[in-house]
Amino acid sequence: MVSRVIPVDPFDLVIFGGTGDLARRKILPGLFRRFCAGQMPEEAQIIGAARSEMDDDGYRQLVRDAIEEFGDKPVPEGGALDAFLARLGYVQVDATGTDGWEELSRRITEDRVRAFYFSVGPSLFGDLAERLHQYGMASGQSRIVVEKPFGHDLGTAKALNAVLAQHFDETQIYRIDHYLGKETVQNLMAVRFGNVLFEPLWNALYVDHIQVTVAETVGVGGRGGYYDKSGAMRDMVQNHLMQLLCLIAMEPPAKFEPDSVRDEKLKVIRALEPVEPHHIVRGQYDATEKEPGYREDVEDPKSRTESFLAMKVHISNWRWAGTPFYLRTGKRLRARTSEIAVVFKDAPHSIFGAEAGRHRNVLIIRLQPNEGMTLDVTIKEPGPGGMRLVDVPLDMTFADALGPDADEVPDAYERLIMDVIRGNQTLFMRGDEVEAAWAWTDPIIAGWAARNDVPKTYDAGSAGPEDSLMLMHRDGRKWREIKA
Ligand SMILES: NC(=O)c1ccc[n+]([C@@H]2O[C@H](COP(=O)([O-])OP(=O)(O)OC[C@H]3O[C@@H](n4cnc5c(N)ncnc54)[C@H](OP(=O)(O)O)[C@@H]3O)[C@@H](O)[C@H]2O)c1
Repeated sequence: MVSRVIPVDPFDLVIFGGTGDLARRKILPGLFRRFCAGQMPEEAQIIGAARSEMDDDGYRQLVRDAIEEFGDKPVPEGGALDAFLARLGYVQVDATGTDGWEELSRRITEDRVRAFYFSVGPSLFGDLAERLHQYGMASGQSRIVVEKPFGHDLGTAKALNAVLAQHFDETQIYRIDHYLGKETVQNLMAVRFGNVLFEPLWNALYVDHIQVTVAETVGVGGRGGYYDKSGAMRDMVQNHLMQLLCLIAMEPPAKFEPDSVRDEKLKVIRALEPVEPHHIVRGQYDATEKEPGYREDVEDPKSRTESFLAMKVHISNWRWAGTPFYLRTGKRLRARTSEIAVVFKDAPHSIFGAEAGRHRNVLIIRLQPNEGMTLDVTIKEPGPGGMRLVDVPLDMTFADALGPDADEVPDAYERLIMDVIRGNQTLFMRGDEVEAAWAWTDPIIAGWAARNDVPKTYDAGSAGPEDSLMLMHRDGRKWREIKA
């Protein structure tokens, strides 16, 4: 299978925070991959912008080092990296001051798409929008890309939306959630809406429940200070898991177009029921002999922030009434894995008798590792000895299906940046979606504070607190195993 590369029009991309962790680890190596794939036109210009003192050559060296360190494969021979670096420049700017802004506006090319990536702390988003306007760079061809976190609660998200809206139209604002850029997440839409097979079964009549798991093996590491103010709810559920939930649960949009898709996602968020306190389990990972526990990591022995969250969620609409969605995410768990499992109901009657056991179809959508999909189907166990049933996976790992081309599938950041240049907002969150998500999460978080809720401790390397297993057991269900 040969993947098609459609070059984009010439563009200017300014990366505010161009010297930071995200730019060096993801954005710049991703852009280099797009360059190697032939998607970036000759005239494209990429400008790093930050306060550090540096000239163009210094920045090119920084980017060369970043690509060599963080690129996923060895740099190709033949001068590709030099050719890419030749498109790069650097301007020293302070988001909160006046330094460098005139120089930046001089470097911007007239009459072409210009994208400004806000890869800086969220407290600077408003300053950047204001300065872009002040120095004449907020024209109709300008787009801004805003990183997470988008607000800390509904109030701050609304305030941020209002600040950005002063200078940019909603069609110019790209709120990034890199989960939406993952190949499998888009495949979820292709599978649902490109096949006749699944959609008739995709409802409360045929689906017993849905599980979404996003598990990490790492702890909070050096991000302890930031993380302890957020926790799993703000850091993962309000954005990434919520977006996955929307794509699983939404009605078919009339078209695969930004507002059609986002309208349907918004309806899902608005249909979420408030969550009962006993349908939520929060946890904090314990110390091991070798590694500190959550509270040591965040240097607060009394911290009540959760590094793990499991919850049962209901969507009040015709399609999903009565079908539970179980969401689970956490740090320092057994394996690094992200998957969605759609567990279908039992066949209404077993012609094979009780001894054939219970068999269910499960559609598993794996986001990582080994992006792909598996459908568990029930077949006869081979061999003599009567009719015994067994579940076998129909497996589609993309790496197998796409062959050597699997390597060329762009990663989430690459795809999303190219979408910004093309002006396609389908995979970006709209302002009202983000606000609706906060409107649902805020009362849950407020409830924990009001009840002085203390997260349960769980063993590092486990599947989370025991109580999270009970959340499913009580309903006669079981989490899928967390495994790589
Ligand atoms: N790192 C990740 O994996 C990740 C993942 C998801 C989201 N994010 C989000 O992405 C954003 C950037 O994160 P990061 O990890 O890259 O942070 P970081 O490593 O701390 O980098 C921050 C960048 O902002 C620049 N900067 C700071 N103050 C500035 C100012 N006043 N004016 C201009 N530039 C300024 C810094 O350079 P100077 O000090 O030279 O100015 C640096 O380039 C944050 O919103 C974060 O939440 C990051």
